[in-house]
Amino acid sequence: MLCVSNELLKDAREKHYAIPGFNCIADVMIRGILDRVEKLRSPVFLMLFPADIDENTWWYFSSMVHAIADHYTIPIVLHLDHATNHDDIRIALDHGFTSVMYDGSSLPFDENVEMARKTVELAKPYGASVEAELGRVGGYGMETAGNAVSNILTQPDEIVKYVERTGVDSLAVSIGNAHGIYPQLPQLDIPLLKELNAASKVPLVLHGGSGTPDDQVRAAIETGICKFNVYTDNRVAMWNCFKTLADEFDQFERGDPPPAVYLGRLQETVGDVVEAKATLAGSIGRV
Ligand code: 13P
Repeated sequence: MLCVSNELLKDAREKHYAIPGFNCIADVMIRGILDRVEKLRSPVFLMLFPADIDENTWWYFSSMVHAIADHYTIPIVLHLDHATNHDDIRIALDHGFTSVMYDGSSLPFDENVEMARKTVELAKPYGASVEAELGRVGGYGMETAGNAVSNILTQPDEIVKYVERTGVDSLAVSIGNAHGIYPQLPQLDIPLLKELNAASKVPLVLHGGSGTPDDQVRAAIETGICKFNVYTDNRVAMWNCFKTLADEFDQFERGDPPPAVYLGRLQETVGDVVEAKATLAGSIGRV
């Protein structure tokens, strides 16, 4: 069923686990995620990334998720990830997203505060939850094929002011994490996270969860991360699966391999990534 995130994140914070959030776009990904978390009894965020949106995506994605959500018994948060403008936020809310992220990480502090505060105002009548970002999580986002965006670490003294002034429900922090494929292994700043968590009234979120060594993810979750975002690891796994499938089906005696077989394999590939991440997040069996 579809849910807002507040109670889920509160439980995660109290019990020191994290809820995994997966960016997804097509039926094969959505089903790969939901079938597996249903089996594992884990809550989940289904997240739509702005770079994946074309003119038909809003209604297609949201009507698909709304139509299938009640067939699952685990809590599903339908979340818009990394919106950088209020038009996208309004459209998502009108399409029944139960959670939105405003990403003001490229703005000066006061402008970030103002835009996030306005997001909270927009989301309130819909009963939707709001995530925002303080500091900047850099890396290779999907739009940035060339240069990596640099990180700006989140400052503990800014968190109190930010949360108070904006009224956001959760906060993405920058502690050495980055989006996309890491050119070298990340080194999460766990002492900094400890300070951030102590200063924050709201649950903290780790973006750029792909490619992070398991022991670092575990340490981050023990130190206060309550939501754990993953996209790249699914993209890499799906792409590798595509290549294997292409090789295998080249040998197929007919030129029309059955879609249910190869799409099913992609779905299971996504499911396996989901299971590994939910295990790491400690979210299995929480429903
Ligand atoms: P990765 O693609 O690095 O896993 O990051 C996903 C993310 O943080 C989406 O918000």
